[in-house]
Parts: sequence; C-alpha cells; structure tokens
Amino acid sequence: MQELASRIWTRESRHHPGQLAWSYAYAMPEELGHGPVALVERGGEVVAWAWAESDDWLELCVDPADAGAGQEAVSWFCGRAADTVSRTMALATEEHVLATLDRAGFVVEEDVPWFTHHYLDLGLAPVIDVPGYHLRHVEPDEAAARAACHRLAWSATSKVSTGAYERLMSTPPYRHDLDWVAVAADAEMVASVCVWLDDRTGVALVEPVGCAPEHRGRGLAGAVSAAALRAARDLGASTGLVCPRGDDGYPVPMRVYRGIGFEPGPRTLTLVRPAVET
Ligand SMILES: CC(C)(COP(=O)(O)OP(=O)(O)OC[C@H]1O[C@@H](n2cnc3c(N)ncnc32)[C@H](O)[C@@H]1OP(=O)(O)O)[C@@H](O)C(=O)NCCC(=O)NCCS
Repeated sequence: MQELASRIWTRESRHHPGQLAWSYAYAMPEELGHGPVALVERGGEVVAWAWAESDDWLELCVDPADAGAGQEAVSWFCGRAADTVSRTMALATEEHVLATLDRAGFVVEEDVPWFTHHYLDLGLAPVIDVPGYHLRHVEPDEAAARAACHRLAWSATSKVSTGAYERLMSTPPYRHDLDWVAVAADAEMVASVCVWLDDRTGVALVEPVGCAPEHRGRGLAGAVSAAALRAARDLGASTGLVCPRGDDGYPVPMRVYRGIGFEPGPRTLTLVRPAVET
C-alpha cells in the first residue's frame, strides 16, 4: 500500500506512506477495529488498493494509468459494505478516483468538514526559538513520555497509549530523529510533532502536531514543526506536506502551518454511498 502511494505521489494525490503508517498504528489493533485490504496487482506490482478502514469507511488508492484496477478495488469494498451507508475521501484533483467512485454510486457529500493539503519548500522552513523551551527529537526508549505528551494535547480519550506508541515507532517509515518535542524547563515534553519522510519522493508529512493546553499560544506547535521539518530537509527531504482542516469549523491548526510558511493546495471531498436495499 505504501509503495503504491509513494510511486504515484504528486501534489494532486491524497495518500502518503506516513499517513498510512499513522492510520494503521496510532492505537492498538483491538482499539482501531480496522477491516481488510484488497490489493489489485498487475505483473507483480500493486496498481490499486481498497482498505475497509472500518466497515463503513473506504480508503482508496489507484494508479492513474490503470483506472480499471480502481474499479476492481471499489467493487470489492462495495460487495462487503452493500447494506451499509459507506463513505470515503478523495482529493478534489484525483479525477480518476472520483470517476471510479461515481461509477460505484458514491456522491459528494456537502456541508461536512474537509481538509486542505498544504506544501512547504523545505529550503524555506524557518528556525523558531521559543524562550524557556528546548526543541529536540525523541529517543527510541521514550515511547511512554512521548505518548503522554500526545495525550496531553489530544485529551484523555486519546488512544495513543505507550504500547500503541511503541507499535507506531516500529512502523516504517517512522524515524525517531524526525519525531520532535518541545521540552519545558522541568524537562516535561509539552508539544510534539511526528514527521514522516518518504525517501522516494522527498516529501515529509507532518502528522500529528499537538501542544499541551497550558503551553498553547506561545508558538510551540509552529516551532517544533519547523524544527522537525528542517531535520527532514537535512536527511534529503525537499517538500513538507500537512493536511489540516480547511473549513471554518477548526481553524487553529491551519494558522499554525501557514505561520511557518505552508501554502494551500487542493482540498479533500467526502463521498457517500447509500445502503443498497436487498
Ligand atoms: C493546534 C495546536 C497544536 C496549536 O498549538 P499552539 O502551540 O498553541 O500553536 P501556536 O502557538 O504555534 O499558534 C500558532 C497560531 O495559532 C493561533 N492560535 C493558537 N491557539 C489559538 C486559539 N485557541 N484560537 C485562535 N488562534 C489560536 C496563534 O495565535 C497563532 O496564530 P498567529 O501566528 O496568526 O498569531 C494546539 O491547539 C493543539 O494541540 N490542539 C489539539 C491537537 C490538534 O488539533 N492538533 C492539530 C491537528 S494535527
């Protein structure tokens, strides 16, 4: 799945290998309840996949050179989700994916949140110093503290336990030297960002970012993100990618990323397919 996402990646495509790693491993399998994946192969190469991330949610990736493979993948998903209202997401620029979904009966859903992909030329990633805090990458034995830092930002309902974070750390393309934190004077980790570098494309994805409530509004999210992206640049990355909410319902993350130089690209569309009466 990651290989296909990487091979066909452009600024007009939705999936990045790091996003797949995060979605796959940010919690323990029993908490995530992920469904199976169908791979469509031609000559030993994966040209499309459909992932029933849950029974009613499809993730779809299709090589634009083989739209027929996309149809096979979607048919597999619709076959198992026939009696359920199901949804999926695509980037507005993925015309071959949208055409395949249209043929399978998916329609664009209006008035729901969307995400706007943002890009940054990493040569322009700023250096931001926040007095009173130290920025550094985590070490491989810091899963417990790193997971606790994530939970501080994302509330007690977060599924990111120590065990889950250890699992994430062992999921490629995770690298501890691209997993950065801001540390307060008392050595507590209070803001964090994980950056995922796809060596093939040189695209470094930011996912996720968080800051503990009592340390917000001081520029820490932007500073730690910029530091991790500069580390990715030093490892050969050329482009930063982040996908915050683009609608008005949750505007702060987009401000953080634009504040460090990210510029907006295409937005996502949510598509829905009604249950089929049997
Ligand atoms: C989003 C989040 C990471 C921001 O952290 P932060 O350290 O407070 O962000 P910064 O201090 O770098 O703020 C950057 C910008 O957001 C603005 N901002 C921060 N908090 C804000 C708030 N509550 N309301 C409005 N604007 C806010 C800042 O003013 C700044 O904008 P400016 O540069 O135009 O003044 C933090 O609120 C958080 O952890 N939220 C929960 C997790 C989350 O949503 N993560 C992002 C999605 S992956």
